Formats: sequence, C-alpha cells, structure tokens
Amino acid sequence: MTLKINYLDKKKNGNKNKAFFVYSDTKLNDFKGDIDSKTNQKILNLLKFSKSLKNDKIVSFNTDIDKKIIFICVAKAKSEMDFEKLGAKFFDFLKQNEIHDIFVSNKTIKHSNYFNSFIHGAELKSYKFIIYKTKKNEKNIILNIDKKNSSNNTKKLNAILQGVNYTRDLVSEPGNILHPDEYAKRLLQLKKLGLKITIYDQKKLNKMGCNALLGVGQGSIRGSYLVTMEWNGDRSRSKPLAFVGKGVCFDTGGISLKPAKFMEDMTYDMAGSAVVAGLMKNFALRKAKINAVGVVGLVENMPGGNAQRPGDIVKSYSGKTIEVLNTDAEGRLVLADALTFTEKKFKPKFIIDLATLTGAIIVALGSEHAGLFSNNDNLSDQLYKTGNKIDEKVWRMPLNSNYDKLMDSKNADMQNINYVGGASSITAAQFLQRFIINNTPWAHLDIAGMAFSKYAGALNSSGATGYGVRLLNKLVEDYYE
Ligand code: BES
Ligand code: MN
Ligand code: ZN
Repeated sequence: MTLKINYLDKKKNGNKNKAFFVYSDTKLNDFKGDIDSKTNQKILNLLKFSKSLKNDKIVSFNTDIDKKIIFICVAKAKSEMDFEKLGAKFFDFLKQNEIHDIFVSNKTIKHSNYFNSFIHGAELKSYKFIIYKTKKNEKNIILNIDKKNSSNNTKKLNAILQGVNYTRDLVSEPGNILHPDEYAKRLLQLKKLGLKITIYDQKKLNKMGCNALLGVGQGSIRGSYLVTMEWNGDRSRSKPLAFVGKGVCFDTGGISLKPAKFMEDMTYDMAGSAVVAGLMKNFALRKAKINAVGVVGLVENMPGGNAQRPGDIVKSYSGKTIEVLNTDAEGRLVLADALTFTEKKFKPKFIIDLATLTGAIIVALGSEHAGLFSNNDNLSDQLYKTGNKIDEKVWRMPLNSNYDKLMDSKNADMQNINYVGGASSITAAQFLQRFIINNTPWAHLDIAGMAFSKYAGALNSSGATGYGVRLLNKLVEDYYE
C-alpha cells in the first residue's frame, strides 16, 4: 500500500476516520470541534482506557459503521526516533485494518517536531518496490493533515526520505537493469540537484592504474566505473567528508563461482554504493552546510572468457600488488582502488566506506548491527552513539596487525583471501586498511546483513532497508555540520 500525505488547507475536514494523540493528561475537551458530541460517552471510555496503558499503543473503535476514532496512545515515546517508530506502527495498523483515508490531528501532540517525525516514520515504513508489477491493484492510504508545516525540520525529513528511498530503489533493481553502464548514467542525473558528478570509465581507470577494480569487471560485457559525487555546501572550503561504496551490481563470484542457491541475492551487492548515492542526494536536497564527496566503484563480477583467473596478480592504484586467489573476494579489490584514490584526490577529513563485504558478518551480527572496523577511536565512538540514537546500529570489531600474516602472499604484496580460515570479516577489513596510505581517519562498515533484510524492521518492510543513509546523515548533523 502506498502512502499519500494530503495537506488540508482549512481546519475543517470531512474525513470519517480520525486519529488523535493521547497522553496521560489529555482531555476530551482537547478535541473539541473534531469529535461528534453524540459519541462523547463512548469516547470517554476509550480515552480512559487509552490513558491507562503502560506502553505506546494504537487503539480504535467505530463510532458508526464506517467511522473510526483512533487513539495513538503515547505512554513512553519521548524522542523524535520514538515518534518515527510510532508513526511506522500507525501505518501498519492502518494497513491491517484496511483504513485508507484518515485525518490525523496534531492538536494534542506536545512538540511539533514529534508530529513531523511521526509522519516521517509512517512514510519510511510504507516503502515498497513495485515498479515491475504490471497489475497495480495496490490501494493508497491517505493521511490528511491539518496544514503544511513547512518548517526547516520538514524539509530535512523530506530530504532524508528521498535519500533513503533512492538507496532502496537502487538496491532493489535487478542485475539485468541496474548494470554498471546504467548505474553510472543514473548517478549522472544527480547533477540536477547541484552535485558535481565525475565518471571515470575503463579507459581512464586503465590509465590511472586502477587494476584491482578493473580486474573484477573484466569478465563482464558491461563497463567498469569509478564515479565521484561532490557536494560543496561549506564555502570555507573545509576538507571534505568522504564516503566510499562497493558497487558490485551483480556478484556471481566470477570464476570462483558461487553456488546457485541464493545467488540471486547478489543483486544487492551494490548496496554500499547505493547508500553513498542516497546520502549525497540527501545532502544536496537539504543543502547541507558541509563539503562531502561520495566515491563508488561500479562493476559486475562475471565469469567468462575474459574473466580474471584465480591466481592472477594485479597492481592496484596504490602500487601494491595483489594475488587474486579467489575471484569471489572481489569487493575488497574494488574498494582497494576506490579508497586510495579517495584519500589521494580529496585529502578528506575522514573516509567511511560501506560494503556488503562478507557473509561472515551476517553469521556474527545478523541483521541488527553492521560490523564496524576503524583505525580511529573517536570516529568509531561517534558512529556507535549515532547508531544507537537512530536505531541503525554498529558493533565494533577488531583490527590488528596480527591478522596481517594471514593475508601476506608468497608471490605478491598480499593475497585477497585468508587461506587458513576464520576471521573472514576481520581479514577483509585488514586488507582494506592497507589501502589507506596516509593514516586518514577511516571506518569500514560491513553492511552485508543490514542492506537487505528477510524480515521487517521498525522503519522498513522486508527487502532493501536503506540502512546507512540515516546513520551517516545524523553523524554529519551531530558532529560535522
Ligand atoms: N558479496 C559477497 C558477500 C556477501 C555474502 C554479501 C552474502 C551479502 C550476502 C562477497 O563478495 C563475497 O563473496 N565474500 C566472500 C569472501 C570469501 C570468498 C573470502 C564470503 O563472504 O564468502
Ligand atoms: Mn563475492
Ligand atoms: Zn561481493
């Protein structure tokens, strides 16, 4: 079901169904004018019941065969995040009860930002990827709201929503549609929002010596790309914040082919790059007062006559050589070049990379925390706190030079997998760290378990979650803007 917000010009509304926020001190009189006095007694009973609740809950009853009063009972909610979650719950409630049109009063809510958060939560939760359904028998749910509250806060929330949904759309697209050529074209469209987009194609990457990235894409009939998205919202020309994303549009594993079962999931192996794109879109939409750059490596990992072979040795952009023992450990090869390039070209304040890098991080953390690996305690701390605040959580895992011996190669500077076994997510991160040359504060988020979920979360239905956009936006807002 698709959610539509309808802003009513006048206070009066003709909706049959009405929803109100109820706190422990809310009185019937507070809804004067919005509730039919004939039903007062029934409503008093509902109000009494609502106020007795110990948890946030949504309760309703019919005042007529086709008229409902809904009370959104606020027992605990006391932050914007709490109200986002409550809004998401409200959307589910409407869906379950097949309520398609309702007036939501903001009269009794204690803080106007909370009302905006509530609506925002419902909007985030209502996302669905349905563009390939030829029969759109989906009904809309219309939320009628008093008047447009076009405060700065509403604009910000709208930018986040657009950013998150952009990420979700990209992640949901199948591999035959969103291949690297198409992806690069779509990112170019972000120009319209004021982002500076630069596309490095195969020819340029070849000249630059990005052979680690190019090796991954060489079995594909599609091109390989590095795309940069720059946002200059801070006139003081401060060092940019850099976000780097893995954009493997489809990961077959290459010659080290993956098993058939669940291989279709590898259409979301570009989620890291999609988060970067959604985040940059959000910065542009809300005109964030920061300088930021997004860098994504776009490739398709295919077997074929020209594909990279296990045992191939490539020279990365950094100059370091890599023995590719397993072509399925391709994300780190793409990121290796993207990281060094980002550090060298933009000299950023920090680099945060996002990647669906290892299956092992799902074994460790499931779909509740992203794995965080970092060379910087301060940045880690900020990410951890922000994650808890907005419920896009991270859990720090170790980096340690003791793991290095597992990745050292006999024939090159390093190999791309750990043949001894174990610590798959850590050795992958340890590999990435070798491509941060100048000790720039860096954090790597392994989002393999977070980008796509088989079950619904507080603010998303199952499928592409958009995880990371809200986390990094909030990080920037709270610490860098
Ligand atoms: N894209 C995968 C990781 C992945 C697995 C993401 C499941 C989402 C769900 C990555 O490229 C990969 O294949 N990693 C291998 C590394 C191994 C060959 C060292 C893995 O995790 O098995
Ligand atoms: Mn792989
Ligand atoms: Zn992959």
